[in-house]
Amino acid sequence: VQRTLVLIKPDGVRRGLTGEVIRRIEAKGYGLVRLELRSATPELLADHYAEHQGKPFYEPLVEFMLSGPVVAMVVEGQRCIEGFRALAGATDPTAAAPGTIRGDLGRDWGLAVQQNLVHGSDSPESAAREIAIWFSDL
Ligand code: GTP
Ligand code: MG
Repeated sequence: VQRTLVLIKPDGVRRGLTGEVIRRIEAKGYGLVRLELRSATPELLADHYAEHQGKPFYEPLVEFMLSGPVVAMVVEGQRCIEGFRALAGATDPTAAAPGTIRGDLGRDWGLAVQQNLVHGSDSPESAAREIAIWFSDL
């Protein structure tokens, strides 16, 4: 059974969408292995977003991720890595399909970084790496 790292980003927590995101994950049939309200740190985000270091949106992205608490989860289920990314929808909320978290709930405020509510690991390798970053005992 696969595991994936899901984050509810600061915009999702601020807007009171934590319950709605968890509801969709549970409705899909996935299990919650861990769930914690956390404050990210610059060091943790440097690891988490290592692939994006040096890109123009990196600094604003880190600043956004430090703007408030996030909900970090380890989610478990058959093909849940691909499955959660399907639930989340396209990275840009204005392009995400209806029925997805970003498509139904995401907004574009025209800010420097896409405030797109959630993160989900994009491969088994990323999932293993990110789970170890956020939950060092797993
Ligand atoms: P995550 O699940 O958050 O990792 O989203 P993703 O896999 O759909 O996107 P990606 O890993 O490519 O980028 C990580 C985050 O950086 C995105 O969720 C956005 O918040 C932001 N981001 C990525 N690409 C861009 C971009 O071209 N412009 C801006 N402004 N932000 C971006
Ligand atoms: Mg990504």
